[in-house]
Amino acid sequence: MSVSKKSIQEVLETMQIEDVVSEFVSLKKSGPRLKGLCPFHNEKTPSFTVTPSLNMYKCFGCGNGGDAVKFLREHEKFTFIEAIEWLAAKYGITLEKTVYSDEQQLKYKEEESLYIVNKFAQDYFVRQLKETDEGRRIALQYFKERGFRDDIIEKFGLGYTSSEREGLKQVALNQGFKEESLKKLGLISRTSGMDFFRNRVMFPIKSVSGKVIAFAGRIMGNHKKAPKYINSPETEIYIKSKIVYGIYEAKKAIRKEEECLLVEGYTDVISLHQNGIENVVASSGTSLTVEQLQLIKRNTSNLKIIYDGDAAGVNAALRGLDLALEQDLNVKIVMLPDGDDPDSFIKKVGATVFRSFITENADDFIFFKLKLLEKDATDPVKKTEMIKDIINSIGKIPDPLKRNLYTKECAQRLQIDEAILIGEVNKVVKAQVFNRQKEMNRLQRERERKARQAHSTKTGDPSFPPEPPPFFPEGEMPPPDELAGDFAAPKKTEQNPSYFAEKEIVRVLIQHGDKQLLTENMTVAEYVVAQAGEIFDEFEHPVYKEIVLHCRHLVQKGKTVNYKTFSIHEKDSFREIAQELIISKYDMSPNWETKLGITLRTQPVREENFRKDTILEVKKLRLLWLKKIAKQNTERIKNLPKDDADAMLKLLKTQQKINAAITQLSKELNQVIL
Ligand code: CTP
Ligand code: MN
Repeated sequence: MSVSKKSIQEVLETMQIEDVVSEFVSLKKSGPRLKGLCPFHNEKTPSFTVTPSLNMYKCFGCGNGGDAVKFLREHEKFTFIEAIEWLAAKYGITLEKTVYSDEQQLKYKEEESLYIVNKFAQDYFVRQLKETDEGRRIALQYFKERGFRDDIIEKFGLGYTSSEREGLKQVALNQGFKEESLKKLGLISRTSGMDFFRNRVMFPIKSVSGKVIAFAGRIMGNHKKAPKYINSPETEIYIKSKIVYGIYEAKKAIRKEEECLLVEGYTDVISLHQNGIENVVASSGTSLTVEQLQLIKRNTSNLKIIYDGDAAGVNAALRGLDLALEQDLNVKIVMLPDGDDPDSFIKKVGATVFRSFITENADDFIFFKLKLLEKDATDPVKKTEMIKDIINSIGKIPDPLKRNLYTKECAQRLQIDEAILIGEVNKVVKAQVFNRQKEMNRLQRERERKARQAHSTKTGDPSFPPEPPPFFPEGEMPPPDELAGDFAAPKKTEQNPSYFAEKEIVRVLIQHGDKQLLTENMTVAEYVVAQAGEIFDEFEHPVYKEIVLHCRHLVQKGKTVNYKTFSIHEKDSFREIAQELIISKYDMSPNWETKLGITLRTQPVREENFRKDTILEVKKLRLLWLKKIAKQNTERIKNLPKDDADAMLKLLKTQQKINAAITQLSKELNQVIL
């Protein structure tokens, strides 16, 4: 359903952040703000704040923040429209729906009806399980033998279908459901016209929001000919490659634990849930896809792949690995003892041992591959292949710092010359960049083609799917010194535009500090201090400020500044920031361009090009600083008494100078970037 822009506006203007958040988080008043325990990460002392005057929330522990819509998107995993609908219901606003074209209306109705039919089928399977003799005798008994508790059967909506030929079909037709819908959903066979799922226990597959989109049926008893599991076919509402089993039941726990476990089977997911491990989803025996990984990534960046300890398991794990690395997930791999799957293993050893097993045996992907390599260390052909394979994996990591670290580690473990390894990794990186560029161009062309097509076939209906309104207005956060008290180490990108520039400078110092700039005949740290040292005192972010002042101090004493300076520093905040630089991908803020009023055509490749990177970031910082001074100067001009002509002239001249410097710097920035 599409909602009119007017209605959306009404909701956005009505919503009050404290009303919304307090439905999910218990808040206490604290000055002009409200405080509570952050629902997005584990904490004991509240760093989650709600500021009614700004109509925003912000967690100073994990960095999550935004307006009420953002909160609902993050907390409930709603889409924009779902959030609007929820808010409208809360505030009693009637949403005006824009009219769809007939074609779209039909499509929408069809999808809706598919959900209804699936829901009906699920209820039918549950009744078969619980309310028939056969269901209780065969299926419920089977679940009991496997050790599934009633509450777990309920939670996952498990059911049963007997071997009756047209059990579901007859009931469905009696209820007025269309045969065509049943066929489409694969509930009855297109060829025989009979029930598709027979003599099976049924596992409904749910969407992220919990709607039944498909089924998997596991056969009862041992039939050599029939496959153990059969699945619904793909439909508009079920696209296999886009969903993982259990995501609806797991998403809350995944966000809380800040980790997602990935297993192979339906029963593995259920069995772990039953043992209190709820942050788990299943790939359902197929290879992982990019979309599935992105679905996981919406909830956490930490993925632990748990695979059976047999050859098939190893291969499956390896396949998922590179793809996950490309998505910039932090991947760990756990191999279970040979012959066990998560279900059988947890049954054998219990939840406590299981938990410690997967913690202790989680290998970083590189070590996982190295282990395999070391097994075959005597075969030189295999060894070369494996090294190439590892290089390939490292090259796929988008974050240059992480890449660097792995390269070092790998060179050490394999006793290969680091320079050679770096050279090889860089080849992969270049190929990756090239391919990504190509892919992006292709997508762009595709979009343009579609837009043109849509435009030409549009039959004069201007209310075609309305543009979603901008996600949410970027609000100003309270000045940082006011918050200095409850600042641990900010983990995520802050909203404040100055923070971006400051963070990049910190990154440059930590990442490149001790590298030599040949043309300038100094180190990067010396250069940054020489060019921007005086701006350090103006840094807004308290921790970043502390870091750059410390760097300035070191440079003045002739000491080295590098990653090590911080990664082993006694101050927690220093170490945390340095580590954050290693583990999190550093994106340039998309707001940079608008904030600076310039166009950044390409992003610098940082690791290979540290000189460009350094100069660029210093210039950006200077530009932002100049703009700040310009603003202050303008304020002064405005506040000047009218008759003070001399002072006015002086200020105007200053303004001119600043503006000239801004123009010059903007020009240079564009040149550096080209
Ligand atoms: N699978 C499938 N079709 C099959 C076999 C397996 O789709 N014929 C998928 C299912 O998603 C299954 C997963 O692969 O959950 C793992 O397979 P397996 O380990 O054989 O099944 P389990 O989930 O362990 O089921 P059970 O314990 O009931 O044997
Ligand atoms: Mn099993």
